[in-house]
Amino acid sequence: MAKENSNKGYLSGKEIRAIAKSNAKEMKRLEAYKNRRCPESEFLSQMADDDNILEIQDLHTFFFTEQGVVKAVNGVSYDVPKNSVVGVVGESGCGKSVTSMSVMRLIQGPTGQIVDGSIRFKSNEYVLDGKGQPIPDGDGGYRMEEKVYDIAKMPMREIHRIRGKQVAMIFQEPMTSLNPVFTIGQQLDEVTLLHMPGATKQIAKEKSEDMLRLVGIIPENVYNAFPHELSGGMRQRVMIAMALAAEPRLIIADEPTTALDVTIQAQILDLLQDIKNKIDGSILLITHDLGVIAEMADYVVVMYAGKVIEKGTVLEIFQDPRHPYTIGLQKSKPTMTLDDDTELYNIPGNVPNPIDMPSHCYFKERCSMCTKKCSGEYPGMVQVSPTHFVACHLYDEETAHG
Ligand SMILES: Nc1ncnc2c1ncn2[C@@H]1O[C@H](COP(=O)(O)OP(=O)(O)OP(=O)(O)O)[C@@H](O)[C@H]1O
Ligand code: SF4
Ligand SMILES: [Mg+2]
Repeated sequence: MAKENSNKGYLSGKEIRAIAKSNAKEMKRLEAYKNRRCPESEFLSQMADDDNILEIQDLHTFFFTEQGVVKAVNGVSYDVPKNSVVGVVGESGCGKSVTSMSVMRLIQGPTGQIVDGSIRFKSNEYVLDGKGQPIPDGDGGYRMEEKVYDIAKMPMREIHRIRGKQVAMIFQEPMTSLNPVFTIGQQLDEVTLLHMPGATKQIAKEKSEDMLRLVGIIPENVYNAFPHELSGGMRQRVMIAMALAAEPRLIIADEPTTALDVTIQAQILDLLQDIKNKIDGSILLITHDLGVIAEMADYVVVMYAGKVIEKGTVLEIFQDPRHPYTIGLQKSKPTMTLDDDTELYNIPGNVPNPIDMPSHCYFKERCSMCTKKCSGEYPGMVQVSPTHFVACHLYDEETAHG
C-alpha cells in the first residue's frame, strides 16, 4: 500500500513515483482477485445473527489515486435486520454511497477496490438442475433455498446472482438508470422476464402493470411512454417499480428524493413508507435529511470520515445521541420552531484529508468535548445498550465492544 505522503502540502516527484508504483501493484492484485474463477465454497458464508439480511463487517473500500490512497470506507460495520429500514446519515463525502456501491459491487476499478472486510448477504434463490433450470416444487412454484454469500469475496462473474434480483438499487437521478430508447413497459417487462422462471410476455406485462399501480401510476398512461416523456417524480416512481419487480430482499435507496422538488419528495417518501409495509424485504436508506430518517427508519447508522461513529435504534439516536458529532448533527437540523433570524448551528471545522487520516479520533479537531485521552488511539466501539454503539472516548468506561 502507498506510503502516507510527507505532510508538506505537496508531493515530490519521488513520492509521486512511489505512490504510482505501489498503487499499480495493489490494483493488479485486487483486479486479479475480482476476476478469478473459484468454487462457490470460497464465497459462501454464515450470518452472525440469523435475523439479519445483510451484515457489513470491517469493510475497507479504497481509491488508489495519484495523490495517494483515499480510504473512503475505512472499517465500516453495520447490519440490516430482516423487514426493517436502516437509515445511513453523515456529512457529504463520509462514505455512505461508497459503502452501498460496495454492496452492489459497483465500485469502479481499477482505481476503486474493496480491499478488506465482509459483506454477508442472505439470498433466497431457485434451486437449479444440472442444465441451470429451476426445479418445480410440485405446487405450481419452484424449489427455493437460502444461501449466505460474502459479496466482498464474490468474483465479478457471479454478481448476477444477487445484483438486481436479490438486491436492487434506487439512485438519486433516475434518468441515468432508465434506458432512453426503450419504453417504460419494455424495461419493466424485462425485469420479470429475466428473473421469473417460465414468465411469458403476457405474465410480464401483467406484473409490470401491477408494479406501476403499486407505485401510484395508472399503467395505461405510462406503459408505452419513453422515459423523457415523464416528469422527475414519475421517473423515480418507475425506478421504484423496477426495483420492486424483481421482488428483492433488500432495496438500497441512495438519496432517492434529492433531485426532486419538495412536494414530490414528500410523495415519494410516503410511497417508500407504504412499500415498506407491503414488501417482504428491507430498505437501506441513505440521506442527508435527518427528518426523513426520523420518519422512515427503524435503525440509524451515523458515519463520519469513512467510519461508523454511532449506531442504534431510531429512538436511541434521536432521543439519546451520544457521539458529539451526532449531537451536533441534531442541532444543525432545521426545525419549524426556529425564528427566521435564528442561525442554524453549524459544526465548526472540516473533515480531515481522507488520504492522510490522523491516528486519533477523526472528529477531534471539531469536537468541543474532547479530553486528554482523545489525542491517543482512535476510539473503539463501545456498547451503551443492547442495540446502541458509539465510538468515542467519553464512554470508554462502559462495555467495550471490539
Ligand atoms: N472515484 C473516486 N476516486 C477517488 N475518490 C473517490 C471516488 N469516489 C468517491 N471518492 C471519495 O470517497 C469518499 C466517500 O464518498 P461517498 O460518495 O461515499 O460520500 P457520501 O457520504 O455518499 O457523500 P454525499 O452525501 O455527498 O453523497 C469521498 O471522500 C470521495 O471523495
Ligand atoms: S473521542 Fe474525544 S474528540 Fe472524539 S468525539 Fe469523543 S470526545 Fe470528541
Ligand atoms: Mg452519496
